[in-house]
Amino acid sequence: MEGVFVSDFIEPVRQRANFPPRIDVLDTTLRDGEQTPGVCFTLEEKLEIARKLSELGVDVIEAGFPVNSDEEMETVRTIKGLGLKSKVCGLARCITGDIDACMKADVDRVHIFIATSDIHLKYKLRIDEEKAFEQAVAATEYVKRHGLECEFSCEDATRTPLGRLVRFYNGVEKAGADIHNVPDTVGVMEPQAMYELVSALRRKLSKPISMHCHNDFGMATANTLAGIKAGASQAHVTVNGLGERGGNASLEQVMTAATAMYRIEHGIKLSLLKEASKLVERCSMIKLMPNFPVVGDNAFAHEAGIHVHGVLARAESYEPLTPEMVGQKRRIVMGKHTGKHAVANFVKERYNLDEQQIKAIVDKVRCLTINKKKITEGDVNAIVDSVMGSLPDTEKAVNLDEILVVTGNKITPTASVQLSLNGSRRVSAGVGTGPVDALSKAIQTALGEEIKLLNYKLEAISGGTDSLCSVEVVVEDMDGRNAVGVAVGGDIVMVSANALLESLNRIYAKRKSK
Ligand code: KIV
Ligand code: ZN
Repeated sequence: MEGVFVSDFIEPVRQRANFPPRIDVLDTTLRDGEQTPGVCFTLEEKLEIARKLSELGVDVIEAGFPVNSDEEMETVRTIKGLGLKSKVCGLARCITGDIDACMKADVDRVHIFIATSDIHLKYKLRIDEEKAFEQAVAATEYVKRHGLECEFSCEDATRTPLGRLVRFYNGVEKAGADIHNVPDTVGVMEPQAMYELVSALRRKLSKPISMHCHNDFGMATANTLAGIKAGASQAHVTVNGLGERGGNASLEQVMTAATAMYRIEHGIKLSLLKEASKLVERCSMIKLMPNFPVVGDNAFAHEAGIHVHGVLARAESYEPLTPEMVGQKRRIVMGKHTGKHAVANFVKERYNLDEQQIKAIVDKVRCLTINKKKITEGDVNAIVDSVMGSLPDTEKAVNLDEILVVTGNKITPTASVQLSLNGSRRVSAGVGTGPVDALSKAIQTALGEEIKLLNYKLEAISGGTDSLCSVEVVVEDMDGRNAVGVAVGGDIVMVSANALLESLNRIYAKRKSK
């Protein structure tokens, strides 16, 4: 497959597997995903997510548990009212009231479930197997009598004896269930066991089988794929792997692996995965780990050095698929492991600079990376601009030796500076409305002159709290001379100080040249 560079060892395994011709995706981000502790989507967010899931090509959206509240029922109904391409499904216990709430919400499919493991029957439901079986069959008949699609789950299926699972699934199949879902409710399976379980169920059942795996042991993706290898034709997933405890199988991982490793047909547009992940990250307020497979910020990031050399020579040396396939971009990052030469080569390949300028840029990058900053290509542009725009050291009248800035709650921001002006040492302090103001006052006192700060622009270059920032200032002296100063770095106060100094040095240079 074009753009995919996976192991040749997969091919014979793929040939032996019992893959279905196509897999359907049931996304449960809005139901199981919302059960993630701390996650609560607003109606607007649910609608936005549902639209994105449909655009992504999800076959079924599990939009909620309508019996939970009138509000939830209305939300599911509103999602259905969007008229999306995806079917809309509501969750229900095997209780008529729950199913009625789904029907009120106008869903296409009702996903009914009842626990079947000893532990759930005895301690949670406090009913015996017989009673649970009767409820499962009656609920299926009720859904079908109302002309809706019925998906049935044995909750905690993977801790239920096989004979009992077959009995329940057979029972609901006879009652008209359309699809059997196999929930690994507490994520206690491993791939070979899942393959054998689904193979056994397939031999006994006629209706399609669906996988619903939780990630308690980090096996959700592998278990979902193992079930698919055994013939399951639907996967329950969530965006970013949201879900209770360790989460559910991630849509991005399952579908990318199903495509790249097994070449299974499905309707998901992988190129929209990053976009969908970002949307859910924003709405859930759960920041994705940078190393999250497929859609994490580091999934296609390479730290300059040996890896970057390899990636630039031939991307597949360190990328099993192209970033574009999943809506990502390759990022070349410089960090603490990037040697001087790699930084210099990186800069040389991109900019036409002399040796002295390259050295200044390399020194700046190394100084930042040693202080744990990650420098991206975008950051390098800003560093190059600031270094190129700055005066040569020999032409600088003012040099900063030390600064100390104190700020905080109920403290007047105070700065002290030690600098040299044309070689003579000056020490001073100042207070201000904020740390940068205090710093500017201290510098002015040390220089013995007043300057006006006409403009101060602070920008974060890359995202995150440890991103680089750039500061641009415009200052004017008492004679109306003005100058611009630009600086880049990781510490807002230091960057502001350097930008101020740069602009002041330009004013001193102007005075000298006159
Ligand atoms: O994990 C689970 O068992 C569930 C059921 C409701 C299917 O989410
Ligand atoms: Zn679940």
